[in-house]
Amino acid sequence: MTDIQRTTLDNGIVVLTLDRANSKTNLIDDAFTLEFDTVVAELKAQQDLRGVIVESAKSTFVAGGDLALLSTVTDDNANQVIALLDRFRHSLRELETLGKPVVACLNGGALGGGLELALACHHRIAVTNPKTKVGLPEVTLGLLPAAGGVSRITRMLGLEQAIQFLTEGRLHSLSSAQRLGIISQMVTTADEARAEAIAWIDTHPESVAPWDANGFRMPGGLPQSPKTAQLLSIAPAMILKKTQGCYPAANAILSCAVEGATLSMDAAGRLETRYFLPLAKGAVSKNLINTLFFAKNKLEATSRTDNAQTVTTVGVVGAGMMGAGIAWACAVKGLTVVLVDTDLAKAEQGKAYSESIVHKRLERKQLTAEQGQALLNRIQPSDSFEALRPCELVIEAVFEDRALKADVFRQIQANTSEHALLASNTSTLPISSLADSVNQPETFIGLHFFSPVDKMPLLEIIKGEATIEATVQRALAFAGQIAKTPIVVNDGRGFFTSRVFKTFTYEGMAMLAEGIPAAAIENAAWLAGYPVGPLAVSDEVTLTLMERIRRQTQADMAAENQSFVCHPGDAVIDRMLELNRVGKNSGGGFYQYPSGAKKQLWSGLAEHFGGQASFDLQTLKDRFLYIQSIEAFRALNDGIVTSKDEANVGSILGFGYPAWTGGVIQFAHQTGLANFVARAHELEQQCGERFNVSSMLIE
Ligand code: NAI
Repeated sequence: MTDIQRTTLDNGIVVLTLDRANSKTNLIDDAFTLEFDTVVAELKAQQDLRGVIVESAKSTFVAGGDLALLSTVTDDNANQVIALLDRFRHSLRELETLGKPVVACLNGGALGGGLELALACHHRIAVTNPKTKVGLPEVTLGLLPAAGGVSRITRMLGLEQAIQFLTEGRLHSLSSAQRLGIISQMVTTADEARAEAIAWIDTHPESVAPWDANGFRMPGGLPQSPKTAQLLSIAPAMILKKTQGCYPAANAILSCAVEGATLSMDAAGRLETRYFLPLAKGAVSKNLINTLFFAKNKLEATSRTDNAQTVTTVGVVGAGMMGAGIAWACAVKGLTVVLVDTDLAKAEQGKAYSESIVHKRLERKQLTAEQGQALLNRIQPSDSFEALRPCELVIEAVFEDRALKADVFRQIQANTSEHALLASNTSTLPISSLADSVNQPETFIGLHFFSPVDKMPLLEIIKGEATIEATVQRALAFAGQIAKTPIVVNDGRGFFTSRVFKTFTYEGMAMLAEGIPAAAIENAAWLAGYPVGPLAVSDEVTLTLMERIRRQTQADMAAENQSFVCHPGDAVIDRMLELNRVGKNSGGGFYQYPSGAKKQLWSGLAEHFGGQASFDLQTLKDRFLYIQSIEAFRALNDGIVTSKDEANVGSILGFGYPAWTGGVIQFAHQTGLANFVARAHELEQQCGERFNVSSMLIE
């Protein structure tokens, strides 16, 4: 026995302390479920048992199931997974029906299988901590909670709330979980939790779960009750809206919850396994787990470093949209920020962005007034470069203009220590070319944030030709400090993310040029799993900026004696600029933006681009997915991005490549490389050379 310690207290109560050997967290894996099964059987046989307390010796309660196993389910090992699930669910049911009170004491987070364990206890006491989260996030990994989680949550919350809880997979704070009834009681210390658990056992000697009590009624009624039936009739459509038809887990959860609601707990549990298995064997859950759990964690681990690397004061030059967001991202993590713009009013305007977020968080009680004020005090607006003196890192975020940036860096250097790290947030200009304007290019680096900075989790770190490894390590440490997921890439036009992102917007415009209806283009992208269509995104970016980047690229390529190849999307940009439809913030672009109403596609598009051509929906979807994947392979081939993990994670977190694919590179792997190449050839015949995949590329 290695994972569960069993102690009997003087009063006959048994305490089970979860303490997985050689691990910082408790996990539900094969060994744990075997041991748990034995422990529960012993409890059942114990005549004088008065009650059970389940605690954790770790800083959290239980982190969840063993994803290493769950991400590798195939027909060959399916029986092992079924056995594990059935065993664990059976043990939990035995615990729940012991006839003795069982209390879970949550000293920290209880996720997935960990919360399923707590739900099988009759009472759940949590130690107050604003950082503690509880939830069943399985859906976010393409799975469903199959150890009784669906059945218990449905009976506890009623179908309406349970479906929302399970299909969102959100992690809840303790107070939110208490409001839902998932947490029964809150205390301030672990000792108090133990004392309250004993007191609860004393006063509830013969506990049963509410759903095992005589006369239990499902909150809100069974599926056939008129109100619930009405809700269920629209539930599939609501789920489709969220999943875009790309994530099967939410539908499986809906079916499992509804069908299981009228069954016995045991039969409902078996149904969970039945719905779980195809999800676990399918590609989507593997893609989500491998990219958004394993690969992402691996990248984040590179930013965990010793304190010697960290910074306390950051300078941000340019307090526009990006600078304001970067200032927030630093201040919210406790860093002091000097925010410089050309005049004080602009710098203060940049700080006002943080004020508005603080205001919202105060309203939602996510911050106290003192915390909000302390955070804002850390942002010091200024119109003078001299204010940058104490900064160990300065990030430039002025207009995308090479000459202006060069001038700004000269001023930054004149006012900072030679040891300071200098960074540019440029989205397209090669870092090595900007490095020409600084004295120490070895400590110069690209730190490419994404908009809106407070919500976007990725930081693309770009090494210039002269950037040394120690500088990269400092940049990684900074990413860790501000809790962004880093990818490190080599220098090149558009680096990795802007380069691959661009192919999506351009493909959409190429379709428009072919006369494909704009609505079909936008819907095809949505149905492929993209959060926003290419025309809507182009309006956000603005066509003026796209045109400026194209001109810069043409000039740079001419200087390097390279020839610029026109894309069919270029003509669309030119036409839209002639029509003075340049984007969202300038009176509209591909869309019109009536005030107080939802945006609509601009009615003039059909007149200028046709919009009558026939199309095949799958081909439109494939064009988006393939063109980005092919460009990512090219970037990998060119040595811009150097690992498939970085390409996959960067594509999902940075520019909204559909997560179900596992990322730009994984998409080709899951399609099967031979199939991928064959389909790319077809698209090349149909749409042009940009879909060309040479065999060298795939190698
Ligand atoms: P913006 O136009 O909102 O802000 C630029 C700010 O720089 C303005 O407040 C301006 O007053 C200030 N500025 C100009 N000259 C200055 C000088 N000499 N000294 C101090 N401040 C000066 O621009 P935005 O969108 O924030 O972009 C800034 C940089 O971030 C650009 O390089 C852009 O390519 C890059 N970027 C933009 C993204 C976006 O989504 N907008 C995403 C990632 C990077």
